[in-house]
Amino acid sequence: MNPQPDILTHVESGVMTLTLNRLERKNSITAAMYALLADAIEQAAADPAIRVVVLQGHETIFCAGNDIGDFLNQPPAGTDSPVFRFLRGIASFPKPLVAAVCGPAVGIGTTLLLHCDLVYAGDNAAFSMPFVNLGLCPEAASSLLVPQMFGYHRAAEALLLGEPFMAEAALEVGLVNRVVPPLEANGVAQAAARKLAAKPPSSLAETKRLMKHGMQAQVLRQMAEEGASFGRMLGEPAAKEAFGAFMDKRKPDFSRL
Ligand code: COA
Repeated sequence: MNPQPDILTHVESGVMTLTLNRLERKNSITAAMYALLADAIEQAAADPAIRVVVLQGHETIFCAGNDIGDFLNQPPAGTDSPVFRFLRGIASFPKPLVAAVCGPAVGIGTTLLLHCDLVYAGDNAAFSMPFVNLGLCPEAASSLLVPQMFGYHRAAEALLLGEPFMAEAALEVGLVNRVVPPLEANGVAQAAARKLAAKPPSSLAETKRLMKHGMQAQVLRQMAEEGASFGRMLGEPAAKEAFGAFMDKRKPDFSRL
């Protein structure tokens, strides 16, 4: 029997649902998973039968960010790497993108939400962007979009201190649309997706384009600039110490840097 794939894809009534399904590694994402997600997003963009995409995890965990071991073994190389294809895909996705988030949403687990149109959170959702704590810098255009959405000082708290914030705080800054009991989050996202799938696709696409096109080029430029810095910083002492500490299950020590 085949083991369950790490990404589940289900298409029904015009809605493609992509489920992160790697619970034993807290839904952390490998390069192979990014490639599957990027392919699915490209397919959804091109296929007129797919009107909406939903991204979801499990009621206990949305996503622990990049799979750290995989990430260190094959760091993203350039803008054609699977993670960049995925990020560009969601940033340019012309149809509605809905997310359901419960439990921890770390790193890209939070930043990918900046590219979703509607986000529903379980009341156990814990968002974090600990790039500085990992000796890195933001990705997914979060250095542009988080200050814009949260206001500068709250963005600094999230991106410089890198501390987690809970669903109610995410609601307050506008990162999520609604907070619901964790067992209801996927269902609420599906209901919104079904509503969207019943609307005229051309009006949805044009409305989304008009809301986003003023920022689009800047978002893609920021992503590329962040990507270059992130790639360089991965090889530097701060990231080496942070990732070494994660692997050794100890606290990192940046005091000598
Ligand atoms: N990459 C690789 N493995 C990961 C992982 C990641 N991002 N996140 C969790 N895991 C692994 C853990 O190492 C652990 O493996 P083990 O059972 O062999 O020890 C397993 O998944 C369970 O994780 P654990 O930390 O015990 O679960 P938790 O429920 O206590 O905490 C998180 C969940 C998500 C809060 C915590 O795992 C975490 O902070 N992960 C790291 C997130 C991170 O820094 N991501 C950024 C990557 S760029």
